Amino acid sequence: MTNSALKIIEVDTYQGLSLAAAKIFIEAVRKKPNLVLGLATGSSPLGMYQEMIADHKQNNTSYEHVRTFNLDEYVGLAADHSQSYAYFMYENLFKHLDILLENTYIPNGLSESPDQEGALYEEKIIATGGIDLQILGIGANGHIAFNEPGSPFTSRTRLMELTEDTREANARFFNSIDEVPTHALTSGMATIFDAREIVMIVSGKSKAEAMKQLLTGEISEDFPASILHNHPNATVIVDRDALNAE
Ligand code: F6R
Repeated sequence: MTNSALKIIEVDTYQGLSLAAAKIFIEAVRKKPNLVLGLATGSSPLGMYQEMIADHKQNNTSYEHVRTFNLDEYVGLAADHSQSYAYFMYENLFKHLDILLENTYIPNGLSESPDQEGALYEEKIIATGGIDLQILGIGANGHIAFNEPGSPFTSRTRLMELTEDTREANARFFNSIDEVPTHALTSGMATIFDAREIVMIVSGKSKAEAMKQLLTGEISEDFPASILHNHPNATVIVDRDALNAE
């Protein structure tokens, strides 16, 4: 991957990874108070969000003028459903900051027209001037947001059917796999790629194979995260467990 500009930061632990990612976000918000952030849910960013909350309390970093766009939302779950991503963001980040909820955007999982909702979401991103800084996790199959393998690099926010693997991976948050929604609204590959800066965090043994593929594999729509190699300003922060594929 000789042409790749992808930066790799290796850290020992998940805590180190969370701190490193939070530092990038906090410094960016301090530099540009009306920053537009791209946010993710899942286990990976939880530690980073805790660091941002701690910093907000200790150092008064303000999010009053920050706008945020989340990557995705389950179809069929209302914002107050305990497994919706809207609920996740409120509980794990927004309610602890001085951010204005009207400046936090998440696709509407209850929209009757997912196509329209996707187009509207893209318009909202453009209206804010575009995403300045995007945080990403990675699925074991290389997915980013809910862009499963095969997602066109040109794709935009749209309805996606979740793979069985992804539903199984996410079943840990539900009572049973039957409760895991079958579809999600997700930012597209191009939506993500348009962010001016991207930070991906990769932690734990379950991500080691994906990390190896990212470092050694081809740039291909079959492995969505490989798009980062084409981005001019992308960084992967990875911990020791995720670096050591067996
Ligand atoms: C979440 C998202 C997903 C996750 C990925 C990894 O908004 O877009 O792509 O980043 O599934 O999930 P975790 O971090 O739970 O391993």
